[in-house]
Amino acid sequence: MVGFVVRLLFLMSLFCGGLSCYKCFIDPGDSVRLCWGHILSEHNIRNIDACFKTLDRIFNNNPNVIMAGKVGRGYDTVLKEIMRSEIMHIVEEFDHHLNNDTVYEVRLKAAADTFITMASGLPRASGCFPPCGFQAHGTVYNCMTCQYDSCEFPLDCPLQEITVEENNRNQMWCHVPFVLPSDIQIVWRYAEIKTMLIDRFKEVTAGTDKLFSIPSARLEHTGTYQCEIFSRERSLVRIYYHLTVVANEEVGHAELQDVFDQALLPAGQFRVLPTLPPFSLLRLPSDVLLTVSLTSLILLLFITIGVLYWWPSKKMDRETEQEQERHRYRFQFA
Ligand SMILES: *[C@@H]1O[C@H](CO)[C@@H](O)[C@H](O)[C@H]1NC(C)=O
Repeated sequence: MVGFVVRLLFLMSLFCGGLSCYKCFIDPGDSVRLCWGHILSEHNIRNIDACFKTLDRIFNNNPNVIMAGKVGRGYDTVLKEIMRSEIMHIVEEFDHHLNNDTVYEVRLKAAADTFITMASGLPRASGCFPPCGFQAHGTVYNCMTCQYDSCEFPLDCPLQEITVEENNRNQMWCHVPFVLPSDIQIVWRYAEIKTMLIDRFKEVTAGTDKLFSIPSARLEHTGTYQCEIFSRERSLVRIYYHLTVVANEEVGHAELQDVFDQALLPAGQFRVLPTLPPFSLLRLPSDVLLTVSLTSLILLLFITIGVLYWWPSKKMDRETEQEQERHRYRFQFA
């Protein structure tokens, strides 16, 4: 009867107070067994309620224990093993034995410290990557709720705009920044209009292909492409691309304009197009130019030779003339 009342009181305290790493993994019955022989040294009386208060202080309201419990997806089982291995052997040892509060304090404190050290070494969540998708690995275990906190993003990612010129290649990737399970299935869907409404899409492919490639875009490829990733029939994320294919009219129009301009010129006249780039002047000259240049060069050579012969003979002539003149003067003076 007493045991039943104690149990009831404990369960009431469980519902009144919040949850914790301790409460997530230890049965209330085991807690009652743990606290049964708790002696208050000051009054030398057995008091279970004081034991629960000690548990609250050391485990339930200890921010270090709560922090240590924030493990990544799947590691709550390891967290449970650590907690149980620390607490259960104290439970077995203290069951139906009297121990004073100092002993409780020391043993529970040691258990809490070991839990903090071991749980802190467990893998943490990779974090949440906004803005979309169900991110299982990003979820963190929460000892205050005994559950994994969700990243809480919608499955639908915002629509991304892509523009591609006609006849060009276009690639769309079904990439997400978070870790995906290994057993994923990818479905690509298409809608002719710009939309994110599920019922407007028609399935195009289903498999494991993350890439949707259009080798040569045509105008009729314009529309919305949706990629949905599943794992075990569960939708994880939906990515949207709105593709606009533009006709390469701009290029065609420019060519046509050129033809018109040529046709509009007066008869017999052609527009001189700068077909050769300026550096073409460095190219070898034409045959005519080469012949003319060579002839000029030979002519110049002949003239030079002629001048060289003529100049010294002329000089000599003049000198003999001067010599004769001097003689003439000499004769006159003599
Ligand atoms: C508590 O119990 C331990 C071990 O039985 C003993 O050594 C200690 O003196 C006790 N403390 C008090 C305050 O009674």
